Amino acid sequence: MSDIERPVVRPRRLRTTPAMRELVAETTLAPSQLVLPAFVREGAEAPRPIGSMPGVVQHTRDTLRKAAVEAVEAGLKGIMLFGIPEAKDAVGTGATDPDGILNLAIADVVAEVGDELVVMGDLCLDEFTDHGHCGVLTPEGRVDNDATLLRYADMAVVQAEAGVDLVGPSGMMDGQVAVIRDALDAAGHSETGILAYSAKYASAFFGPFREAVDSSLEGDRRTYQQDGRRNAGEGVREALLDIDEGADIVMVKPALAYLDVLRRVADAAAPLGVPTAAYNISGEYAMVEAAAERGWIDREPAIVETLTSIRRAGADIILTYWATEAAGLLRG
Ligand code: PBG
Repeated sequence: MSDIERPVVRPRRLRTTPAMRELVAETTLAPSQLVLPAFVREGAEAPRPIGSMPGVVQHTRDTLRKAAVEAVEAGLKGIMLFGIPEAKDAVGTGATDPDGILNLAIADVVAEVGDELVVMGDLCLDEFTDHGHCGVLTPEGRVDNDATLLRYADMAVVQAEAGVDLVGPSGMMDGQVAVIRDALDAAGHSETGILAYSAKYASAFFGPFREAVDSSLEGDRRTYQQDGRRNAGEGVREALLDIDEGADIVMVKPALAYLDVLRRVADAAAPLGVPTAAYNISGEYAMVEAAAERGWIDREPAIVETLTSIRRAGADIILTYWATEAAGLLRG
């Protein structure tokens, strides 16, 4: 072999042993960066499995408290709560009822784990409306942006009164972060923060979530969520608007089909000192679980690879249904 043909530069040297690979790893993934989304169902006497999300349940108030304790023990730092009410109506009354399931669950979890977990509440009407939309409707059946903002303002204050640390507005109404910030401040809750679902795309991957919250939605959310395929710049615009309006953390959702958007949002938010979160959503979870169940992929490495890819694309924080288990995998 002549010198010319022999490789002089050998990247494989940095892959030789596990220690070497650890030493040169660029991307870190730690339990403290993971947030567990959890569902709690009003009136439930036992946890109810969600068929399209094997391993995820609709909790009772009691089992939710236990899940929160397990999250703390696993080293997670956050939990995002979703409520499933017994009764729904056109304006989502259950969302602003201090005795509504989500608000009770927030208080339960705060009482159970206190400051050990950042307690977050989904701030959206879709779980509470009989039509399943994220807002209230005009007489013609369109989602009424500004009337919805008034409902979100009330919802934020009720969640803050229940003790929530971060509200998570996920309805993609224009101006929602500003209105919520105002309402919280006016009610004396200036310490309650906002994790804004800023770049949220109308996505087919939300499918299993609809089962998870017994959604009554017919049709889609394309007049308020972002274009499900094509617009990345719009995601950056939405995130910057939310930061202007007072968002403490911005989020991109879904994660996997939008890793480019995540990178761009994180690059825009980081210089402003604003952390970026990403939501590894129900359909992303279901795909891995379904393939693993069939023996088509190796489940645990696939989970770690999925979450690492989201970190590598720029997420400081990841919401994932695997959070508690993944924390164990990362430690083990
Ligand atoms: C709205 C909301 C949704 C999700 C989180 N918040 C549903 C939607 O926008 O259709 C989806 C989460 C997931 O799919 O895992 N309340």
